[in-house]
Amino acid sequence: MQRVFVLTGAGVSAESGLGTFRDKDGIWTKINLEDVATPEGFARDPAKVHAFYNARRANLAAAAPNEAHRALARLEAACADTAREFILVTQNVDDLHEQAGSQNVIHMHGELRKIRCERCGVVKPWVEDLALETKCPACTRAGHLRPHVVWFGEMPFEMDRIYDELGMADLFVSIGTSGSVYPAAAFVAFAKGMGTRTVELNLEPSENAHVFAETMYGPASIVVPLFVEQLLGGDTW
Ligand code: OAD
Repeated sequence: MQRVFVLTGAGVSAESGLGTFRDKDGIWTKINLEDVATPEGFARDPAKVHAFYNARRANLAAAAPNEAHRALARLEAACADTAREFILVTQNVDDLHEQAGSQNVIHMHGELRKIRCERCGVVKPWVEDLALETKCPACTRAGHLRPHVVWFGEMPFEMDRIYDELGMADLFVSIGTSGSVYPAAAFVAFAKGMGTRTVELNLEPSENAHVFAETMYGPASIVVPLFVEQLLGGDTW
């Protein structure tokens, strides 16, 4: 086994205090996603969209990585030590993987701590609140900044690179994602079609649990360290 591809979703950050989307009490059970996570919603009411992401940025500032994030950083380090390739593709817009020490991370749905100017195209790190009046740090115009996150109806980032990596992987591990948002939800079928070993680690079976060859269920802070320990101590390592 030479190449490890990990996909994560909101479940990996749930125990860090960041809400998931579709669970009971999930973000999309309380907030209309069309209002805050679509280009049309932003055009209709940008102040509402800014307020939503300002609140999420504040939640992130109060959050810390958990044992699942840390175990994935250990797995990446173990891969580096043994000349294996490791890539972590996350649907999460938080940076808890990086805070835990992960390095080769692709944020396919963007990053909460970055902003983008729709006028000049610049992408910049950003930790403060964003408002309609906020001026772009590059072109200095107000009214064109948006969170550097992918909304419904927009193309996720780096899909060519992601499919290249997925096509070469020997092991595909999906963690804390409901399997209901495409294209990420289709990765397991693609990996399986390539003959790749597929593993689901989740609180409960996801919508495409039946596609995975192996599954382990429980809180990410428990099952991810357990899986990593088993993998690193196993015959296939
Ligand atoms: P969901 O909220 O759809 O799914 C979260 C998954 O995590 C569920 O399957 C839960 O069972 C599981 N889960 C919850 N707590 C857990 C825990 N402590 N340990 C392990 N698993 C746990 O979130 P995502 O699948 O990430 O996109 O959602 C995908 C995308 O939909 C998000 O990136 C976001 C959202 O709309 C955009 O905003 C574009």
